[in-house]
Amino acid sequence: MEKLSMATTILCAVALAALAAAATGGEAAVVEHTFVVHEMNQTHLCNTTKIYVVNGQLPGPTIDVTDGDTVVVHVQNRLPHGLTIHWHGVRQMRSCWSDGAGFVTECPVPPGGERVYRFSVTGQVGTLWWHAHVTCLRATVAGAFVIRPRDGRYPFPTPAKDVPIIIGEWWQLDLVELDRRMHDGNFDDNPLSATINGKLGDLSNCSGRPERRRSPDTIVVATMNNVSFRQPTNASLLERYYERRTSGLYTEDLPDRPPRPYNYTDRDLIPPGPLEEALEPTFKATKLRRFRYNTSVEIIFQSTALLQSDSNPMHLHGYDFFVLAMGLGNYDPKTDPNKFNYHNPPLRNTVQVPRTGWAAVRFVTDNPGMWYLHCHFEFHIIMGMATAFIVEDGPTPDTSLPPPPPEFKTCGANGLTHP
Ligand SMILES: *[C@@H]1O[C@H](CO)[C@@H](O)[C@H](O)[C@H]1NC(C)=O
Ligand SMILES: *[C@@H]1O[C@H](CO)[C@@H](O)[C@H](O)[C@H]1NC(C)=O
Ligand SMILES: *[C@@H]1O[C@H](CO)[C@@H](O)[C@H](O)[C@H]1NC(C)=O
Ligand SMILES: *[C@@H]1O[C@H](CO)[C@@H](O)[C@H](O)[C@H]1NC(C)=O
Ligand SMILES: *[C@@H]1O[C@H](CO)[C@@H](O)[C@H](O)[C@H]1NC(C)=O
Ligand SMILES: *[C@@H]1O[C@H](CO)[C@@H](O)[C@H](O)[C@H]1NC(C)=O
Ligand SMILES: *[C@@H]1O[C@H](CO)[C@@H](O)[C@H](O)[C@H]1NC(C)=O
Repeated sequence: MEKLSMATTILCAVALAALAAAATGGEAAVVEHTFVVHEMNQTHLCNTTKIYVVNGQLPGPTIDVTDGDTVVVHVQNRLPHGLTIHWHGVRQMRSCWSDGAGFVTECPVPPGGERVYRFSVTGQVGTLWWHAHVTCLRATVAGAFVIRPRDGRYPFPTPAKDVPIIIGEWWQLDLVELDRRMHDGNFDDNPLSATINGKLGDLSNCSGRPERRRSPDTIVVATMNNVSFRQPTNASLLERYYERRTSGLYTEDLPDRPPRPYNYTDRDLIPPGPLEEALEPTFKATKLRRFRYNTSVEIIFQSTALLQSDSNPMHLHGYDFFVLAMGLGNYDPKTDPNKFNYHNPPLRNTVQVPRTGWAAVRFVTDNPGMWYLHCHFEFHIIMGMATAFIVEDGPTPDTSLPPPPPEFKTCGANGLTHP
């Protein structure tokens, strides 16, 4: 087993909750959608804001499939900037090319361009979601992804009706502008409201515009094991890995553990202060980690007190991991493994690492490709709380990543896909 221990700084919003479903069955089907992504004006809190939506809907269309179905989505980009769409939690077994992680598995589709995502859903049941995976667009370019059991059997009484509920954010700032501001190191913007299925509720009115909350974030980098991830801007990691043209783009030496251990949850780390200043120097690099096929991987995520931050929702693409244990304070490698739940650990694609606490997860590398691992809080990604795992091919064609599908478009020099 390979063990990684990751000390992270900071947190994330945008969550999803949903109820499940009615019975289906029969033969596997091809479920096809066309997503036209465009701008739209919407008025809330006495202000008309330009937002980005799919097919004029907020939230976007629900994708409703049965385990075993093939999903085909034709994405037409009518925005003035690049776009990718990620199918959050869908395992993408041997279809990493369709994962939709901008600059990790593909370059964004250019304005006016089209991209066809095609993948099968295998061995999964439940409600996931899909969302844009470039800049901050996922605040409004998002929707539910429902997978029903093939045999129609749920582990609970079949509900009479099911309604996906998407909790989101309402920003008055243009989301592309928001992204630019975060890249420039402005982390004091906040959404004006939460939304439920795109709605703000009756309690907000014009006279009562909520105040903008302001936060103190001094530090504008986030790290894992003292590396702040530099996301490529004109290449896709997967494409270059597949073509074996990685020189100058990334290295595979993400450290196994924090290079210099410290008391991660020491309250004296909360800035400003000499302890925090001593830990501030770090560096930006595209450091990845490579695993052989069929390796058991254990990760200890350790949140630090550095920003007196919230919890960190760490999301791994292409995998579900077992959450063996969570705790507050510093993870203790001597005693905490005694708390590991080997009996019925929850299987998740995201783990909410507690504020100044830790979480232990494990998974087996049974899905070859390039898989993004990141905090799901947009501004933590921009600050660098991310990396990617390379999973090598297994010994047979069935355990290897196939070549890119015919509809896959490669990256151009400007960082967008060729038309
Ligand atoms: C949104 O409103 C602005 C200002 O009125 C207008 O210029 C723009 O064309 C509108 N956009 C759309 C997509 O309707
Ligand atoms: C509407 O939003 C814009 C952009 O955030 C802001 O500059 C403006 O003050 C707002 N207007 C009102 C009436 O709230
Ligand atoms: C809505 O407006 C009324 C008066 O116009 C005010 O008393 C009330 O506090 C406002 N509600 C909110 C949630 O801002
Ligand atoms: C780490 O910091 C916490 C909180 O300040 C403190 O309670 C704990 O004793 C410290 N641990 C060590 C080993 O110094
Ligand atoms: C992080 O890396 C920087 C640059 O190499 C170094 O100066 C610093 O000591 C490192 N900090 C820790 C906590 O490892
Ligand atoms: C994965 O490894 C386990 C032993 O750790 C072995 O039993 C199994 O056959 C391997 N699977 C593949 C597909 O290589
Ligand atoms: C990508 O950008 C880097 C620096 O921004 C540049 O050195 C490199 O040549 C670019 N690569 C391509 C393929 O355009």
